[in-house]
Amino acid sequence: MAQEDVFKKLVSHCKEYGFVFPSSEIYDGMGAVYDYAQNGVELKNNIKRYWWDSMVRLHQNIVGLDSAIFMHPTIWKASGHVDAFNDPLIDNRDSKKRYRADVLIEEQIAKYDDKIEKEVTKAKKKFGDAFDEAMFKSTNPQVVDYSAKREALHERFAVAMNATDLAELRQIILDEKIVCPISGTANWTEVRQFNLMFSTEMGSVSEGANKVYLRPETAQGIFVNFLNVQKTGRMKLPFGIAQIGKAFRNEIVARQFIFRMREFEQMEMQFFVQPGTELDWFAKWKETRMKWHRNLGFGDDNYRFHDHEKLAHYANAATDVEYKFPFGFKEVEGVHSRTDFDLSQHQKYCGKKIQYFDTERNESYVPYVIETSIGVDRMFLQVMSAAYCEEDLSKDGKKDSRVVLRFPAALAPVKMAVMPLVKKDGLPEKAQQIIDMVKFDYNCQYDEKDSIGKRYRRQDAIGTPFCVTVDYQTLEDNTVTIRHRDSMEQERISIDAIPALLKEKADIGTLLKNL
Ligand code: GAP
Repeated sequence: MAQEDVFKKLVSHCKEYGFVFPSSEIYDGMGAVYDYAQNGVELKNNIKRYWWDSMVRLHQNIVGLDSAIFMHPTIWKASGHVDAFNDPLIDNRDSKKRYRADVLIEEQIAKYDDKIEKEVTKAKKKFGDAFDEAMFKSTNPQVVDYSAKREALHERFAVAMNATDLAELRQIILDEKIVCPISGTANWTEVRQFNLMFSTEMGSVSEGANKVYLRPETAQGIFVNFLNVQKTGRMKLPFGIAQIGKAFRNEIVARQFIFRMREFEQMEMQFFVQPGTELDWFAKWKETRMKWHRNLGFGDDNYRFHDHEKLAHYANAATDVEYKFPFGFKEVEGVHSRTDFDLSQHQKYCGKKIQYFDTERNESYVPYVIETSIGVDRMFLQVMSAAYCEEDLSKDGKKDSRVVLRFPAALAPVKMAVMPLVKKDGLPEKAQQIIDMVKFDYNCQYDEKDSIGKRYRRQDAIGTPFCVTVDYQTLEDNTVTIRHRDSMEQERISIDAIPALLKEKADIGTLLKNL
């Protein structure tokens, strides 16, 4: 099945099985705003817990914070967001649709990548084990041509972006013959800058209202609390502050479901270090974050780093952790070495000293910062894409299939479904007792409707790792049938063994121990 079709199916699965709903749907929805449904919110909470505990519990020198969404407007002047948090936009005059000029060009670059990939896959099939990919890429005339075109475009794009040369961005779009996917024409307007921050007013108009912004990143809440946390927590460098919270961006190209939203959540950690040590820490955090992703068991090859060639003016190193989504490798997380830019800017704008006194060096300085920044929603989409699986179970001429979400058990919204074989003779009560035994630690579901087979399929579709069936034998010997989601194997176990099984297989701690 084409990857685009897989993605479409995934999106409808998210709605049908209570993961993600379009926001305000009964009023026809809102672009790029979504609500998390009964199963989605559980998965999202588990992802946040995995991140939070890996940061705050596993590191003695990282503490948490929950800063307000509204902040003093000068913060956004100091951080550079008022003047420079812009997207270059371009309109197609025929379709009247608006696009990000940089995204149009990036998609064009990705098209060259796809073409190269297709040639490689074809050749791999043809030559089998004898295939030498590096040699093929450097000698096959078609691939060499695509690579040269890709590199030239990439180089020209990087130069234009670095210089914020809007006319050149437009020229690249024209030269590459990039057309609007709706109208099919290249009837483009000029490229304009568009600030992504949402603003509103605080206070009543009679008092004199103040323009405030909905934060476009959670990071600034951490920077402006640096001294508060350092002093009250008596923190010594190196140390980190972690935060999970909502962020808002008026994204113009809001496509690909929850990949790019206008209201989303970030999990950010700013790690404050001695100047001069930041690149070592950058390398360490790169590795630590990649390990966190790969620890979920979705296949190491599905992740890669994309080191930035074009660095923001305040950064001296930056990389993205990319995952192979059904629509290609895309950023899930950024790791940035932000130097002392943010703290120095706040020091300048608020007029107060924001420094750390280093007792070992007997001097004060503005610490340098390594940032790890990941979108909860994007991580959610990554986990859903990786877990979604359509299986053909046809046997002996009898057609059968299932959709199963192969979540790591610790992230699954429901850890265990408990099903009485029939709705009488004390079986429902016994099933409820099993839930009562573990409900303080795990989210479990009681299900008594339809045949056991149908109930299994329903639980597979929401990724429940264990289904427990209570039958007449249970009343006699306190055992149940447990059915494993991935293998579909069943075994008879004692009810008393259930808490330990969930602890071993479905606890966030099991993920954390492998980090
Ligand atoms: N403080 C740094 C920062 O905000 P970023 O690369 O703009 O850096 C970090 O964003 C992460 O936040 C991204 O890697 C992505 O996972 C997530 N993110 C950014 N914009 C988003 C959007 N519009 N919708 C969903 N997630 C988004």
